[in-house]
Amino acid sequence: MTVVDVVAAAGGAEAGNGSGNGQTVCVTGAGGYIASWLVKLLLEQGYTVKGTVRNPDDPKNAHLRALDGAAERLILCKADLLDADAIRHAVHGCHGVFHTASPVTDDPEQMVEPAVRGTEYVIDAAVEAGTVRRMVLTSSIGAVTMDPNRGPDVVVDESCWSDLDFCKKTRNWYCYGKAVAEQAAWEAARQRGVDLVVVNPVLVIGPLLQPTVNASIAHILKYLDGSASKFANAVQAYVDVRDVADAHLRAFENPLASGRLLCAERVLHREDVVRILSKLFPEYPVPTRCSDEINPRKQPYKMSNQKLRDLGLEFRPVSQSLYETVKSLQEKGHLPVLSEQTEADKEVPAEELQGGVTIRA
Ligand SMILES: NC(=O)c1ccc[n+]([C@@H]2O[C@H](COP(=O)([O-])OP(=O)(O)OC[C@H]3O[C@@H](n4cnc5c(N)ncnc54)[C@H](OP(=O)(O)O)[C@@H]3O)[C@@H](O)[C@H]2O)c1
Repeated sequence: MTVVDVVAAAGGAEAGNGSGNGQTVCVTGAGGYIASWLVKLLLEQGYTVKGTVRNPDDPKNAHLRALDGAAERLILCKADLLDADAIRHAVHGCHGVFHTASPVTDDPEQMVEPAVRGTEYVIDAAVEAGTVRRMVLTSSIGAVTMDPNRGPDVVVDESCWSDLDFCKKTRNWYCYGKAVAEQAAWEAARQRGVDLVVVNPVLVIGPLLQPTVNASIAHILKYLDGSASKFANAVQAYVDVRDVADAHLRAFENPLASGRLLCAERVLHREDVVRILSKLFPEYPVPTRCSDEINPRKQPYKMSNQKLRDLGLEFRPVSQSLYETVKSLQEKGHLPVLSEQTEADKEVPAEELQGGVTIRA
């Protein structure tokens, strides 16, 4: 019996009747923003989780050990994406793999190789393990929308791919790395007979489990802590982190899940974002002016989240996620609490706070 078998057997007794009872899955980059919520969900479902982290003793990963079920069913494995042996060890004995780890940077040196080679190592490890029935890859909207030739009326869906030359030309190395990694994953999965499902989240917000501020949360924090004095003339799609975790679970568990799954609730102009934030939290110095007062206001693109809704996912409204992002930043000490919230303030933000374009097929 391997260590994993022992833990899985023990965990089965603790796990109750969840969908993951008695199964072991690997989550790469377990301490990250999205992965932490995914690990939490998997533990709640009764899975035994082998989570890879670069440094299991780093206090920034301590929140994982505090999750319900972690003491019995979470194993932290030390692994860098460029260490094939460590990845193989983490995936060994698993029934499923969630590959979420990736650098999140526009530095080409740090981004491209770990994203692409790391994904190939995870697929190799899944094949070698011989027990993995499905792999779920966390790709990104960055692999989907960076296409200057897409017409304004095109509904962005799973058939869209970012233009690699355009990503390179605009030095958008994060999108380039995510797109090349996803392409490599599809090619390797096809060649090696791996059942692969890909989740493509848009910009992810919502409460944090980890103690540090990741890149997509920094995108919101800068509008509250005074570091951004203006907002950009830009549009962006948003989704709640708990829905992204849910999408990964559905991608793994539902036999009907296949291909790419766009994970998005709503497309907002930055002006909508700051308007919602200042309405909910008027005590912070939320910018009121756009940095571009010359060009016409950028129009939101249309997008489809039909595939995930067909799998039963009901997306939380983004205004709710924005509210909970700020509350979480306050609770974790990243933002000072400047005024006491009343009970009325805690109500779910009204529909008129939404703005933007709801995503429907
Ligand atoms: N947040 C978003 O808006 C968003 C949107 C679309 C897609 N995604 C994708 O979702 C995934 C998770 O992102 P996140 O937002 O949760 O970001 P995050 O909190 O920064 O998590 C990234 C994780 O990847 C790990 N990682 C990075 N480079 C690594 C390497 N060389 N070896 C091993 N682990 C490495 C990090 O480990 P360390 O803690 O050791 O650095 C961290 O655990 C990524 O694939 C990202 O591209 C995110």
